[in-house]
Amino acid sequence: MILQEIKDRRSPLVFKEDDVDKQKIKALIEAARWAPSCFNKQPWKYVFVHKNHSSRENLEAALALGNGWAKRAPYLVAVGANPNEACKTNGLPYYAYDIGLSVMTLVIEAEHQGLRVHQMAGWNEEKVKTALSFPENYRVVVVFALGYEGDAKSILERLEERVKERLAEPRKRNAPTKNFFFGAFKKP
Ligand SMILES: Cc1cc2nc3c(=O)[nH]c(=O)nc-3n(C[C@H](O)[C@H](O)[C@H](O)COP(=O)(O)O)c2cc1C
Repeated sequence: MILQEIKDRRSPLVFKEDDVDKQKIKALIEAARWAPSCFNKQPWKYVFVHKNHSSRENLEAALALGNGWAKRAPYLVAVGANPNEACKTNGLPYYAYDIGLSVMTLVIEAEHQGLRVHQMAGWNEEKVKTALSFPENYRVVVVFALGYEGDAKSILERLEERVKERLAEPRKRNAPTKNFFFGAFKKP
């Protein structure tokens, strides 16, 4: 049996418009802050954008068309880093790895708090950076929607066709034997 928060976690396509208590946001920040990072550089910079904030409209305009569902969430959060301030051991861009670790730690805490997170790669980086005043030499790695999961049935008629199709799809994963090996890499 694995942790309930890991088992139940999913990326919802429907968010309630209900706001999220500031105390819960503080808990998420605390969780993200304690994530491990290469040389403990903690390169992540999070920008939390509430639906009432003046930068929200421009951030929403940076989202890919297919991510329109994210606009219902009370918070959109962009996470970036300065690649030059992070570890480059083995020539690898660990800033992105470190951001992933931090965001995943936040995601598990969000589940624990009864919240849900849906991460996105579908957005225009320059528009996100301009909307949120990220410095030029930063890279934005992920934007995620944060809030309470909504009941799709209650707003079915308002949902886009492609969202309805995705809601009907079952969640799936590769069989463990495809990705996890013991002793040596196993070619397919
Ligand atoms: C880095 C990253 C980028 C993603 N980009 C998008 C996106 O642009 N739009 C979207 O609807 N979902 C996006 N997702 C969500 C994935 O599609 C989702 O995590 C995957 O289908 C597994 O579903 P689950 O999270 O509900 O288990 C992204 C997830 C990750 C981790």
